[in-house]
Amino acid sequence: MKISGRNKWKLYLAMKRNKELRPYLVHTKKWNKKNFERMLSKNKSIVVKPNKGLKAKNIYFIFKRNSKSYVVQLYENKIYFSSRQRVYEYMKKRINNTSYIIQKRIKMAKIDGRLFDIRVILQRKSINLPWEATAHKVRVAKKGRMVTNASKGGNILSFDEAMNQSNISNEEKGYLLDHIKDVSILAANALNRYYPKKRLYGIDIGIKKDGSLHIFEINRKPSLKGFTDLQEQRLKEYKEDKR
Ligand SMILES: Nc1ncnc2c1ncn2[C@@H]1O[C@H](COP(=O)(O)OP(=O)(O)OP(=O)(O)O)[C@@H](O)[C@H]1O
Ligand SMILES: [Mg+2]
Repeated sequence: MKISGRNKWKLYLAMKRNKELRPYLVHTKKWNKKNFERMLSKNKSIVVKPNKGLKAKNIYFIFKRNSKSYVVQLYENKIYFSSRQRVYEYMKKRINNTSYIIQKRIKMAKIDGRLFDIRVILQRKSINLPWEATAHKVRVAKKGRMVTNASKGGNILSFDEAMNQSNISNEEKGYLLDHIKDVSILAANALNRYYPKKRLYGIDIGIKKDGSLHIFEINRKPSLKGFTDLQEQRLKEYKEDKR
């Protein structure tokens, strides 16, 4: 399988081939009428986003309110619909023949009523050395927003600050960072057969209140900004080192 450019769908399929990683992947389908109807009948909320998405542009959150009422949220705007068919027709116009994917929506844990998730950077100094989680940051969404990206008003916290303030159950907090790093490394390893020469990834992971982990996506050209000075220094060392 050749994967070029940004392609969330292909990367999802590649990761899904790894059995150990599967429980951590967010259920994903390609956008079409049948998949949209199925996903929305099975789930209380779904996410529809561009397959080649960037910086949380055009990410639609669709919620079922009751059997006949739906709301679609894009950025801070909400639009109400009285049937699934009407939601479909609206989305179809917005999507207009470009490539989109549908995901189950993960109900992320919160800090002070704001959603948050985590970005982990994975690097290896040579293609023969093991992957390492070299940096991570917690991204907190702006109040009222569903996406955590800094480009959409989110801000950054250290992992410990985030844990102290979050509504994640206390028993789960202690092992969480190690678990996040292990799952991230598992994902990088799962892609080795497709990208044997890759030495850098960025992975976005949502955490639920119960401490469970959910991979939204893996990026092949992650930004190396927004980490602590110490972490950024390390990122550079790994990037430049070629043994
Ligand atoms: N299935 C989902 N459930 C809940 N929240 C989601 C889901 N998918 C995305 N999000 C939220 O939206 C944010 C952006 O989504 P995603 O990382 O898939 O696209 P992107 O940011 O546009 O891509 P890139 O990181 O390449 O710029 C996630 O970090 C997360 O906060
Ligand atoms: Mg992202």
